[in-house]
Amino acid sequence: MRVRAPLGNADWQWMQALWKREWGGLTMVSRGTTHRLEHLSALIAVDDEDQYLGLITWSSSGAEAEVTSLNAVKENRGVGSALLDTCENDAYRQGIHRVWLITTNDNIRALAFYQKRGYRIEAVFPGAVDTARKEKPEIPVIAANGVPIHDEILLAKWLP
Ligand SMILES: CC(C)(COP(=O)(O)OP(=O)(O)OC[C@H]1O[C@@H](n2cnc3c(N)ncnc32)[C@H](O)[C@@H]1OP(=O)(O)O)[C@@H](O)C(=O)NCCC(=O)NCCS
Repeated sequence: MRVRAPLGNADWQWMQALWKREWGGLTMVSRGTTHRLEHLSALIAVDDEDQYLGLITWSSSGAEAEVTSLNAVKENRGVGSALLDTCENDAYRQGIHRVWLITTNDNIRALAFYQKRGYRIEAVFPGAVDTARKEKPEIPVIAANGVPIHDEILLAKWLP
């Protein structure tokens, strides 16, 4: 597996298709901010034949970066870890010392994944997804695992 920057039109098409499929469109709403895919930093994971394995996007501001999305096409193969690790290293080289992200109350898998990788819960925003859904009605009401989606959870990690 390799992690690399997006290169050309084929990468861009794939990134758009993934966001539409996994996140309901080309925008992401977190903490009341609407992020557009084309404005974000991104890294792609590919296999030896350059087949797509995953995508991470983030937005930096001063000494902080927000991971706006992380997706592994096939899970439990180290794709999410490799993308997050490379993102953190790139961010650190650019002078970023704190990485944070928002996940939602239903996403038990992501909550475990990030906490095992050094992220700590810093805040819970009850009802924040219900508010974001007004801006982006594509956000589901109930997750695939049956949990109603209401709240944003902020996790953060200080880079050593
Ligand atoms: C959360 C998410 C990104 C994790 O990605 P992933 O590629 O499955 O993560 P990894 O494979 O790196 O790690 C998952 C587990 O697989 C294990 N693993 C890694 N490589 C492995 C391998 N070759 N064989 C077996 N297990 C392996 C890891 O040890 C890890 O276990 P741990 O968390 O107990 O340490 C992924 O589940 C996903 O895309 N979820 C949907 C979107 C989402 O919710 N994103 C996060 C919110 S922004």
